[in-house]
Amino acid sequence: MAWERKAQEAGRRLAAIERDHAPAVFASSLGLEDMVLTDLIIRHAPGVGVFTLDTGRLPEETYRLIDQVAERYGVRMMVYFPDMRAVEEFTRRYGMNAFYESVPLRRECCRIRKVEPLRRALAAKKAWITGLRREQATTRQDVGFSEFDADHGLTKFNPLADWTLADVWDYIRALDVPYNVLHDQDYPSIGCAPCTRAVAPGEDLRAGRWWWESGETKECGCHAREKEPLATRHGAA
Ligand code: ADX
Ligand code: SF4
Repeated sequence: MAWERKAQEAGRRLAAIERDHAPAVFASSLGLEDMVLTDLIIRHAPGVGVFTLDTGRLPEETYRLIDQVAERYGVRMMVYFPDMRAVEEFTRRYGMNAFYESVPLRRECCRIRKVEPLRRALAAKKAWITGLRREQATTRQDVGFSEFDADHGLTKFNPLADWTLADVWDYIRALDVPYNVLHDQDYPSIGCAPCTRAVAPGEDLRAGRWWWESGETKECGCHAREKEPLATRHGAA
């Protein structure tokens, strides 16, 4: 089974990250890939800390899943919040839903609610782990298993880079991993509630994210792509 082989390999990569790159942390959005990674980390690299960025605008289903993770794995993930004053200032100047008005305002909201808290979460860490997959978007086609994240000054690992969505679902179902119920309602990719909607049949995986924007701008800014490839980029972690 493809997923079993890939899961073994991802488990080995995660154990190596825990051993060679401590302190390493895993950024979980509670999305489907991140639930696979949570399960793999608990099994193979329990010393890796798990955190999530609560933008303050997440769907209720995602909040429920944060507590489900604590119940299932006995681990309470670290939750980072945006700077309160920055949110107050932004909403005072531009209103509650300014992200619909322009790409710069949308990016500024993401910067305040995600990019800046991520910077705090990664401070003094040697490596971070994400659930990025190449198949997810045109902007992610060259995602490697590891790369130097010049933006944050540490190594970034994407252990599921070569997984297909079918591999991800196979793992979730085989090991009965908890997942966001929105995935059963045609939400393949889930971010903040006002910026995520269900996709229609045949639409791509991230079509429901910032659906009013075009493909090239649809990134929150946490995954700047100007990175130096490591020698191991498509090789072992
Ligand atoms: S993104 O544009 O929102 O970053 P996506 O939802 O596809 O895209 O997430 C890609 C990866 O970024 C996730 O697997 C996770 O590692 C990280 N990530 C995204 N959102 C969050 C979040 N709210 N908290 C922690 N990590 C996140
Ligand atoms: Fe703001 Fe939307 Fe970005 Fe969430 S996804 S931080 S609500 S612009």
